[in-house]
Amino acid sequence: MDVITTVEQLRKRLANEKNVALVPTMGNLHAGHIQLIKEVKPRAACLVTSIFVNRLQFGPSEDFNRYPRTLEADCAHLLQAGCDVVFAPDEKEIYPTAQEYTVDPSELQHVLEGAFRPGHFRGVATVVLKLFNMVQPQLAIFGKKDYQQYLVLKDMVTQLALPIEIVPAETVRATDGLALSSRNSYLSPVEREEAIQLYRQLSSIKQAIMEGNSDFNALETSATNYLNARGWQTDYIAIRSQDHLQEAQTNDNRLVVLGASRLGKTRLIDNLEIELR
Ligand code: PAF
Repeated sequence: MDVITTVEQLRKRLANEKNVALVPTMGNLHAGHIQLIKEVKPRAACLVTSIFVNRLQFGPSEDFNRYPRTLEADCAHLLQAGCDVVFAPDEKEIYPTAQEYTVDPSELQHVLEGAFRPGHFRGVATVVLKLFNMVQPQLAIFGKKDYQQYLVLKDMVTQLALPIEIVPAETVRATDGLALSSRNSYLSPVEREEAIQLYRQLSSIKQAIMEGNSDFNALETSATNYLNARGWQTDYIAIRSQDHLQEAQTNDNRLVVLGASRLGKTRLIDNLEIELR
């Protein structure tokens, strides 16, 4: 496995590769990331994992500075998982000058996560487009844990006619159901036990909808109140159409319930798709 830090070295290393897959990450890898690698590995002759904590997608009061940076441990995991190339540039390599050209995604960037994290998806789309240009992969995989991110990036590839297949991957969960996330490492042991409540509320909503309940507002409000009463600060619990996260209609049969809520200092997000017959 090659660990590469510059675009020049990367281009040399990939010059003769015909079938490259990219797994973009911000590092601090967990079983969810390793699953992404396992899923695309059989489809690529050369698997590149990028590790870059992208300042552009963090708001001024967010956790950019304390985001865990664990390159050595990440490389050990990647070697074991069969990764061929790790691209771990520093900030100057990705942003040698202030990034004045940015990717401005569709209206989707302003709802849900975008409403609470203004500019977040512009930062994500900009760095992912740069990584695509640097690596020039034939396919790239994104976890559905970040459901809105996956949709924004899928749209970017379609609208900008990029010759890259975007592969979605299912969320990987701990045995109690908590979605794996690098930010789970911020949770104290007590918070870690409580953290499962977000998934439980999303699961209850999913079950209620599968059983025919279509009072979406009431379901969203009751889950929000439940979490807030336990000390969470909930940004949203939202039942949306899987199609661009539009407001869900009662005759919509491909739904997704998404939630974002803060437990202590940690903001957790999760979602569950709901397929109705
Ligand atoms: O999902 C992430 O880890 C990041 O948003 C990504 C896609 C690597 C862009 O920085």
